[in-house]
Amino acid sequence: MSLDLDTVALGTTGLSVSEIAFGTWRFGRETAAGNLETDRETAHRLLDAYEGAGGRFIDTANVYGEGDSEHWIGEWLAKRDREEFVLASKIYFPTRENDPNAGGLNRKHLRRQLDLVLDRLDTEYLDILFVHRWDEQTPLREFLSTLDRFVKSGRVHYLGASTLRPDAWRLARANELARQHGWEPFSITQPRYNLVNREIEGAYMEFCRERGIGIVPWSPLAQGFLTGKYEREDSPPTDSTASDTEGWRDRYLTEENFKTLDVVRAVGEKLGATPAQVALAYHRHHPDITAPIVGARTVDQLEENLQAGTVSLSAEQFDRLEEAEAGPFDNLL
Ligand SMILES: NC(=O)c1ccc[n+]([C@@H]2O[C@H](COP(=O)([O-])OP(=O)(O)OC[C@H]3O[C@@H](n4cnc5c(N)ncnc54)[C@H](OP(=O)(O)O)[C@@H]3O)[C@@H](O)[C@H]2O)c1
Repeated sequence: MSLDLDTVALGTTGLSVSEIAFGTWRFGRETAAGNLETDRETAHRLLDAYEGAGGRFIDTANVYGEGDSEHWIGEWLAKRDREEFVLASKIYFPTRENDPNAGGLNRKHLRRQLDLVLDRLDTEYLDILFVHRWDEQTPLREFLSTLDRFVKSGRVHYLGASTLRPDAWRLARANELARQHGWEPFSITQPRYNLVNREIEGAYMEFCRERGIGIVPWSPLAQGFLTGKYEREDSPPTDSTASDTEGWRDRYLTEENFKTLDVVRAVGEKLGATPAQVALAYHRHHPDITAPIVGARTVDQLEENLQAGTVSLSAEQFDRLEEAEAGPFDNLL
């Protein structure tokens, strides 16, 4: 595929990242209906396609595919120069049943999981470690000081916080405590954000802007809704795994969301771009967004999505999208 994704600065860190990141949540993931979304071979082909388009920013997590996602990325990376890639992973969710220490951000779990993450990815360091969710049970100073050790030891370069919690005040409190102790602060966030899930607009986004925190949103295509493959009347297409997910239809196939999709489609028709490309171009043009983390189940989908790197929105088109009707939003934690 002839395309060379640009790079952008990651907030006020010194790191540059691809303008579209590739998300690997679906590697080794079984849907509720028991279907494997992305097997090892497809995962490697998707990574090839992303690399072929100039992509160098890969997002994973310790629990994706119960470790298969990191493992498959590690295998793929072993044949490449690791230094050319920016790798992000996450820790929080339980990794063993009936063990209160095998989950959350307590020191024991964080340390053990970072060892496993680096081992599976076959790398000495992570560029970004995200806390996958906020831990209300573990004292803030315990996990901040542990994360700081990871950075000071060189095993992690930057810290990120995923999802809407921590909200702006939690993030402010955490970074203030880090500042008082000379610990590494969170310099990146990874919330959900797309044209039909806009709950981070307002205080959260303003806080990140004011502090120079880079935002790398997940589900920029609303898990496929913004690709335009769902219609008001139809039953969901059979080649969709989102429709396997409990609650997804009620949450996404709403009249408000279809009205937003109408605007996305209209802008796409003017530009000769697909709805997915318009939805991603919106992120690329958004002054507060660093790089969306896009997902794809097939190489064709990924190649279509990455072509968003060539789509330019006029100021008027950006405004139309921003003002499109959307919501009501659920405040996903
Ligand atoms: N921090 C967090 O808590 C969190 C949460 C969720 C995700 N993430 C990260 O964000 C990444 C992206 O999330 P996501 O997968 O929900 O993103 P997304 O880009 O909103 O949705 C991707 C899905 O939409 C469908 N799709 C994508 N491109 C398409 C196209 N061109 N045509 C038709 N269908 C298309 C595919 O599913 P079907 O073909 O099955 O419809 C694909 O798997 C994840 O991989 C993960 O790295 C993080």
